[in-house]
Amino acid sequence: MSHSLDEFADRLQEEINQEVIQTYGEKVYERWRNPRFMGRMEDPTGYARVTGSCGDTMEIFLRLQGELISDASFTTDGCGCSAVCASVACELAVGKKFEEVPDIDGEAILKVLGGLPEDDVHCAFLAAETLQTALDACMSPEKPSQRPR
Ligand code: FES
Repeated sequence: MSHSLDEFADRLQEEINQEVIQTYGEKVYERWRNPRFMGRMEDPTGYARVTGSCGDTMEIFLRLQGELISDASFTTDGCGCSAVCASVACELAVGKKFEEVPDIDGEAILKVLGGLPEDDVHCAFLAAETLQTALDACMSPEKPSQRPR
């Protein structure tokens, strides 16, 4: 009984995986399965919490070491694409000099992913906006509104 239930669940998961690959491509699928940089960060240098027009909320945490972004992480209560895009935003930021991060915009995130379906393009721009807001917060980390809650 549970054996056939397991088989059913495996088949269902495989169908979902194939549908995601068909719709979003391999790059998005890999990141959806393994979103790097996910999670909260203790004592970030900069933090932002942004709610997009879709109603989803994303958080990005940045740590500065000298002039470099040494670490980044994110959380999101949004769609799978929001996690994928936030993950890419963090990946693009880590190791960059502080002044290079403003170049990371929605288009840069979309480029890494090889594009997204039209309905999901805004997820990349939400990730970029959250990253840039966290970068701004690095310059005024004591602002209470920009501390993690
Ligand atoms: Fe809101 Fe993707 S639908 S971030």
